[in-house]
Amino acid sequence: MKFKGYAYINTIGCQMNVYDSEKLALILNYNGYRQTRDMDQADIVICNTCSIRHKAEEKAFSFLGRFARIKKKKPDIIIVMAGCVAQQEGKKAFKRVHHLDIVLGTQAFSRFGKHIDAVKAGKNRIVDIEDSEKLYEIMPAVLESDAAESTILEHGTLNFKENKISRFVTIMQGCENFCTYCVVPYVRGKERSRNPESIIKEISLLAKSGVKEINLLGQNVNSYGQLEGQISFAELLVQVSKIRGIQRIRFATSHPKDLSMDLIHAIRDLDKVCNHLHLPVQSGSDKILKKMNRGYSRQTYIKRIFDLKKQCPEIGVSTDIIVGFPSETRDDFSETMDLLREIKFDSIFAFAYSNRSSAPASKFSHQVDEKEKLDRLNKLLELQEHYTKQKNLELIGKTLEILVEGQSVRKHNGFKKNHKNMEQMTGRSACNKIVHFPSESAKIGDLIKIQIKNAYPHSLWGYPAGALN
Ligand code: 5AD
Ligand code: SF4
Repeated sequence: MKFKGYAYINTIGCQMNVYDSEKLALILNYNGYRQTRDMDQADIVICNTCSIRHKAEEKAFSFLGRFARIKKKKPDIIIVMAGCVAQQEGKKAFKRVHHLDIVLGTQAFSRFGKHIDAVKAGKNRIVDIEDSEKLYEIMPAVLESDAAESTILEHGTLNFKENKISRFVTIMQGCENFCTYCVVPYVRGKERSRNPESIIKEISLLAKSGVKEINLLGQNVNSYGQLEGQISFAELLVQVSKIRGIQRIRFATSHPKDLSMDLIHAIRDLDKVCNHLHLPVQSGSDKILKKMNRGYSRQTYIKRIFDLKKQCPEIGVSTDIIVGFPSETRDDFSETMDLLREIKFDSIFAFAYSNRSSAPASKFSHQVDEKEKLDRLNKLLELQEHYTKQKNLELIGKTLEILVEGQSVRKHNGFKKNHKNMEQMTGRSACNKIVHFPSESAKIGDLIKIQIKNAYPHSLWGYPAGALN
C-alpha cells in the first residue's frame, strides 16, 4: 500500500483499549497510514476513548476539544473519536466536538479505511456504530500483511516498541453480565468469543516475531466459548500453552461467578500459565453485591479464593473494588474493609463509584456524597497498602522467576556504589510482582531466577540466584 500519511493515536482506558489501538494502528498501516508519536506530524488524529468512569470520558472530550484551533490552521487534518464513548454518543458527539470528522464505534474498526477515504472525498461527519461479527477475525490477515511487518518492525504499535515481549490478545468481546454500575454491555455489545483457530494463529504470529508473554483479554474470560459451544477457556489455555516461543500466559478478567475448578486446575498444572489471578470482588457486602447484580455472595467469593489457594498456594491474587455504590452505608463499607483483612490481596484497583447515565444504578436512590466516596476510597487504599507491603515482605528470601522487561527507570539506593559495572534491570514475576535486580548480562525477554532481598510497597529487589552479592 502506497504511503498516504501519518496517524497519531491517543489511547484512554483499559488493556482492551490498548489492544484495540494496536489493531487500529495495523488497520491504518494496511490502508497506507503510518503511526507517529509526534502529534504535529499527524494527518489523522484518533482518540480511542473509554466511558467506564466519568473522568475517562471527560479526558477524551478535552483531548479532542484541543483540535478546534488546529483544524482551523490545518483543515485537512482528520479528527476521529473511536471506541466506547464513540459507541455511546454516536452523532451526539458532534454537539460537543464540532470539528470531529469520524465517530468510530467499538465494532466499526475494520471499516475505518473506507471512512477515511470518504472524508478525503469530501464527506463529513461520518458515524459508524454498527455491529460487526467479524471484528477480530480480520486480525490474522492484517498481521500477516507486509504492512503489518513494517508497522511492527520499524515503527512499533502502541506499546510494542517499548515492550516487544509482552502482548495483549482479545479472545472475546462484549459482556452480558449487566452489573448495574457498568456501561460495558451497552458500549461493547453482546458477549462473543473468537474462534480458537483465529486466536492460536494470531498468537503464533506474535510468537514468531519474538513475543514471549501473552495476556488473553475478555470481560469475562471464564465464560469463553460457552455461548458458541466452543472449547472452554481452560482448554484454550492448553492450546495456547503448546505454542512454541510463548513462555508465559496471563489473562483478565475473571468473573467470580464463573471461576471453575477446571480453570483452577489449569493454573495449577500448566507451567506457562502465570501464578496470578485477577478476580474482581467489587464489594464485601452481600446487600451491595446483590444491588450490583454480581451473581455471587461474599461467602461464595471467599470459598473460591480458598479453593484457589488450596490448589495453588503461592498464587498472587488481585481484585477490583468500587466504593460508594448507591445506598452503600458505613457498615457495608466496613464489610469491604473486613474482606481485605480476611483475604489479604496482593494488590487492588479501587474506584469511587462513578454515575454513568446509561447504566441502571444511575437511577438508584441514596447516591453517596462525593466527599464520602473519596474518604472511603482513601481508607481502603491505606489499609491495602499495609497488605501489599506485607505480601511483598513474605517473599524475602524466596527465588522467583522473572521475565526481563528492560532497564529500571528508577535506580535503587546504593546501586551505583555497589554495582558499578552492572545495569539495573527490571521484570515481573509469574505472581505479577515488579522485581529490580543488577545484572551484567540479562536481556529483555530472558527468564531469570532472582533471589529476593528487599521488599518495598510496590516492588521487590533481588540478585540473580547464585550470584555473589
Ligand atoms: N464506577 C466506578 N468503577 C467502575 N468500574 C466499572 N464501572 C464503574 C463505575 N461506574 C470498575 C469495576 C471494574 C473495573 C474495570 O472498573 O471495578 O471491575
Ligand atoms: Fe461490566 Fe460486570 Fe461485564 Fe465486568 S462483568 S464488564 S463489570 S457488566
